Amino acid sequence: MGIRREAFASFAVILLSLVLLLAYVPSPASAATLKCRDRPAGRERTSLNVGWRFQRSETSPDGLSYDQLKAYILPSANDFIKDPAQHHQRPSSPPPPVDRAQAGYDDSQWEQLDLPHDWAVKGPFYTGADPVIDGSMGRLPIQGVGWYRRTFALGPADEGKAVYLDVDGAMSYAMVWVNGNLVGGWPYGYASFRLDLTPYVNKGGEENQLAIRLDNAVDSSRFYPGAGIYRNVWLTKVSPVHIGRSGTWVRSRDISTTSATLDITVQLENTAKSGGKAVDVSVVTDVHVMDAASGKAGDKVATFPNATASLDAGGKQSVNGSVSLQNPRLWGPRPEQEPNMYVAVSHVYVGGKEVDTYETPFGVRTVEYSGETGLSVNGQHVFLKGICQHHDLGALGAAFSVPAAERQLQVMQDMGVNSLRTSHNPPAPELLQLADRMGILVLDEIFDTWRTAKVTNDFHRIFDDWHEADTRAFVRRDRNHPSVFLWSFGNEVAEQSQGDAGAATARALHAIVRDEDPTRQTCVGMDQARPGSAFTQAVDTIGLNYQGEGRGDGPPAFPSFHAASPGKMIFSTESSSAVSSRGTFLFPVTPANSSIVRDGNGADDATMTVSSYDLYAVSWGASPEKVFFAQDTYPWVAGEYVWTGWDYVGEPTPYADRARSSYFGIVDLAGFPKERYYLYQSRWRPDVRNAHILPHWDWPGRVGQVTPVHVFSSADEAELFVNGESQGRVRRAARTYRFRWDQVVYQPGEVRVETYKDGAAWASATVRTTGKAKGLRLSTYKGRAGIRAGGDDLAFVSLDIVDERGDVVPLAGDDITFSVDGPGEIVATDNGDPRDYVAFPSKERKAFNGHALAIVRARAGATEPITVKASADGLEAGEVTLKIE
Ligand code: GAL
Repeated sequence: MGIRREAFASFAVILLSLVLLLAYVPSPASAATLKCRDRPAGRERTSLNVGWRFQRSETSPDGLSYDQLKAYILPSANDFIKDPAQHHQRPSSPPPPVDRAQAGYDDSQWEQLDLPHDWAVKGPFYTGADPVIDGSMGRLPIQGVGWYRRTFALGPADEGKAVYLDVDGAMSYAMVWVNGNLVGGWPYGYASFRLDLTPYVNKGGEENQLAIRLDNAVDSSRFYPGAGIYRNVWLTKVSPVHIGRSGTWVRSRDISTTSATLDITVQLENTAKSGGKAVDVSVVTDVHVMDAASGKAGDKVATFPNATASLDAGGKQSVNGSVSLQNPRLWGPRPEQEPNMYVAVSHVYVGGKEVDTYETPFGVRTVEYSGETGLSVNGQHVFLKGICQHHDLGALGAAFSVPAAERQLQVMQDMGVNSLRTSHNPPAPELLQLADRMGILVLDEIFDTWRTAKVTNDFHRIFDDWHEADTRAFVRRDRNHPSVFLWSFGNEVAEQSQGDAGAATARALHAIVRDEDPTRQTCVGMDQARPGSAFTQAVDTIGLNYQGEGRGDGPPAFPSFHAASPGKMIFSTESSSAVSSRGTFLFPVTPANSSIVRDGNGADDATMTVSSYDLYAVSWGASPEKVFFAQDTYPWVAGEYVWTGWDYVGEPTPYADRARSSYFGIVDLAGFPKERYYLYQSRWRPDVRNAHILPHWDWPGRVGQVTPVHVFSSADEAELFVNGESQGRVRRAARTYRFRWDQVVYQPGEVRVETYKDGAAWASATVRTTGKAKGLRLSTYKGRAGIRAGGDDLAFVSLDIVDERGDVVPLAGDDITFSVDGPGEIVATDNGDPRDYVAFPSKERKAFNGHALAIVRARAGATEPITVKASADGLEAGEVTLKIE
């Protein structure tokens, strides 16, 4: 961290810094993000993830409830409520004492664990009829009260410091006690929040007892919410005069190739007890280039003018500054642009002594939203090739993991994705750091519900008390990220259909968002709002869920919305909702290019499977191709967010009451691409020479029967051969997106396609009838041969069941047993089958259509390699070895 050189010139101090730097080993989970975090003068931020005691009870073990303690929780929102008259006062009477929050409480029998933790993901799944937690929420035991306890010590060096607890996400209704004192809390489980522990902590070296209570109601969500402290938790210690939480904001303007003007706002706080005298503070902010891959601050390229403030005890004050940056290296989405980052390092001085240092990663870029030309970033048109993602990470549940999230994003980026919608809630902070680094635009979304319920216990219960604080906290936390280009403050909210009252709520939320960030536009995922309605006027852009391209067999609504709001960028906040079971093909195949799924038409209710010809969507959705058709018909459409990139836990439509995870993903829950991965890739990455044949060619029961063969390719012409015999060379017509040979008659053997672009050979592919399954083949994600010990690094080990020639046996469903030799453990397994009720941590996993997955962790302190093994009756075992990095 070159930044320290400015403040400390002596050799001794540099040496000390180096020692500290070496001693500081970030947990791999956060390595990418923490390399440039603040550790210098006056400020210390340490992880509290390790060493918790945990107990969950299905019913309240303590007689407490949010409603009962709400008056003590609400003041936690005050920093994010603009009107001081609306601030909440803590009641003068003390809250009732709570046993489980006391230092002396005996938690020795509770489970020991580290964060991030999702108590529900280990299961078991509710399998019967009428489950407590239904299929929409993933049939996993999210409900009940969870208590987390751990201690931390503060030394004499912390005397006089302000001490904060920073929780990145806890599901849900968090209430926090320190040394038996109720500090505060935050109900919305997706929010990041800070609590001031200072009045309650001991600083004499004795232990401080931290206790966190979470409470999850049944029917609290339309999808799997997870349960527990499922993101990182930090302890932040700062001098009384310091930069507040999310306390800096860097904007850029007047951007050209030769210069840009940066504006900064720094929010200073003086938490010294009132009654003390005012303190003169000065702030110097340096701008450094940041290496986006390593996260390190590099050369200093600008310095904001010194800003000064006088802060009364208990006071807050913002200071502003502007500086010109020469030859700015812009942040832009891949692959056309580069995600260059900068980091602003703010040094706060009192009486010439540096009391706080705070880093703000940011990027320089312009964003323009147009009703005619869609989105432009840095003056270059960017068609939104987006996907919606829920926050769960499949078999890992909601417990956030950087490598798991990074893998999800990489798989999407390889397909051609350039944007992500965080449907329908604020993501983990590290997800945005990944998006910044990887050059992925983010549509950052906060709510699925406003004041009117979708399910009994969702956000509507606390909307009135919390929407302002949640919205301000969300925007303030995320607005420095260059990846974030658009705010969404709602998804399919009932208020769309509530006339003026609904529009008034939309206007109120829009005003809050724009008050916190006038530089970005807003949207709401609108499935019901009508063209030109007051509701559509309350948002800056027209984000349509499904209606734009036309629901089911319906006509596209893009033209009427465009006509009613010609100046607004228009796009699909949510598109397609095609459904499929990976590797499953059902007959007959619809001749249409989009068809509503139902039993006998793309779906088989008896087996709860959906066909992977990928022509079938829910009644409110459309096939990918119908969406493409609309985009190519209306060139002013700015793009789409496909529902969804990956499968997710919960919402297993069309088998909502019988399965446990979704059928919507382009990639299954375990990470294996479904067929349409290659359809999106063909359209979104026309540079990639691809050719992908479907279905597989193992149809012993279909000899002599019509078995359509379809090919996804970025080519414009293709010739298909079945056992060497041409089935015809066809040219792809305008506004069609696949090659189809619908009259092919099945005979075992080989199907081959040769494709051409502009008359020249482009790409070819072959599928063959496979032989008997012979063995198991294991491989790691992207061939990575190593894993970091301890922390949160993970290896994703894929299993293929192969025949003698090494071809994947497409219908193989053998029972696999995974094991490890060496200092590692299997965290979870999966196969991408939405019907599989075997709990995720199980080492036994039935393969689904030829594949399974094991997720492996290396133990802390491991040095020896780990061998991951898989065995199955009658098959040759497979293994792969991971070196400790
Ligand atoms: C949308 C909704 C999503 C998801 C999807 C499934 O209407 O916004 O959250 O439920 O349908 O098709």
